Amino acid sequence: MGEEIRIEIESKNKGYPIFIGNSTSALIQKFIEENHKNKKVGIITDDNIKSLYENTISKSLNHLSPYLISIPAGEKNKTRETKERIEDMLLEKKYSRDTIIIAFGGGVIGDLTGFVASTYNRGISIIHVPTTLLAMVDSSIGGKTGVDTKYGKNLIGTIHQPDAVFIDLNFLNSLPKEEFLNGMSEIIKIAITSDKELFEFIEKNSKEILEKEENTLLYIIKRSIELKKEIIERDEEESGLRQTLNFGHTFGHAFENYSEYKIKHGFCISRGIAVESKISVLTENLKREEEKRIVSLLDKFSLPNKINEDINPNKIIDIMKVDKKTRNQKPRFVILKEIGRIKTKNKDFSFEIKEDIIKKAIETPK
Ligand SMILES: NC(=O)c1ccc[n+]([C@@H]2O[C@H](COP(=O)([O-])OP(=O)(O)OC[C@H]3O[C@@H](n4cnc5c(N)ncnc54)[C@H](O)[C@@H]3O)[C@@H](O)[C@H]2O)c1
Ligand SMILES: [Zn+2]
Repeated sequence: MGEEIRIEIESKNKGYPIFIGNSTSALIQKFIEENHKNKKVGIITDDNIKSLYENTISKSLNHLSPYLISIPAGEKNKTRETKERIEDMLLEKKYSRDTIIIAFGGGVIGDLTGFVASTYNRGISIIHVPTTLLAMVDSSIGGKTGVDTKYGKNLIGTIHQPDAVFIDLNFLNSLPKEEFLNGMSEIIKIAITSDKELFEFIEKNSKEILEKEENTLLYIIKRSIELKKEIIERDEEESGLRQTLNFGHTFGHAFENYSEYKIKHGFCISRGIAVESKISVLTENLKREEEKRIVSLLDKFSLPNKINEDINPNKIIDIMKVDKKTRNQKPRFVILKEIGRIKTKNKDFSFEIKEDIIKKAIETPK
């Protein structure tokens, strides 16, 4: 490799490029010098990433004399209070509208920094440099920003598109295995709903993926981004297509809430993928053999897909009913027709499912 791949996100409001490669950090300085000449640069990151990569940043961005702000790592810091703290630090240093912010980190940093950038001086430019697999294929793309409150996750936020996204595969080398698998869950999800070829590629290349073989990773990351791009671009006209991204998430989110957010998102989603594939079988949309293939792919990546926990399905269903994506308190599900294709009907991409079927899908041993 060497040459970076460029994917262009097109949007009525604002498009932006995504660069993927193994030395994209060097490109950032060039991009800022060309597109944001004379702007002040702020980098927001977390303490883990700072301790690993502070030297790399100062080397690759030294001409820009960036101001580095680091916050403690973890979801519990994705709050309004942290946003305020970051804003105060920027204000104190007299950072004005002529500022470009770099979100350097995982989804927590991306969501939080995106929110800061969207309201600071009524909105300033942001560049995403995602360092987790999840952030590379999911959270850095699409412009959603936000923070958590005691009332729930991501309830306060904005849509603020970045000026560019720079994905450097080298960052994955230091990523703990658990975080890597967490991101794989979303990649497998998008393959299941939208691309049978990608699904088969992941089946055949699981060993190479787990060994972080560069070209294999490059392919699955690129493909996942292209699929998300297609969905978000088409959703601008055909409202609702974005729901595809929610496969596995109706159960997954409810389970995450039920576990009081102690279980990582990707590991809740993998359970959701299993339950919602089962719902697709029980409603006679998906073949049983395809469901088995899905479950064995999750197994290859040690992604939990059995609901062994001593859970009460009624409680989970109650949580689903108050999810922000329900309509009239009825949980809705993305349904699979086959691997790579979901059910659609009259421009609907999600469906109400009878409670006894949901219960059965949760209770059936997989
Ligand atoms: N905006 C969106 O569309 C969207 C989509 C999906 C998820 N999200 C959000 O993303 C967040 C989860 O993101 P995440 O999974 O990236 O978590 P995260 O940002 O908390 O990162 C996970 C952990 O990995 C560490 N880390 C990050 N990069 C590293 C690296 N290269 N090497 C070693 N350690 C590293 C971090 O310090 C952290 O401890 C959630 O808040 C979720 O709501 C947003
Ligand atoms: Zn998700």
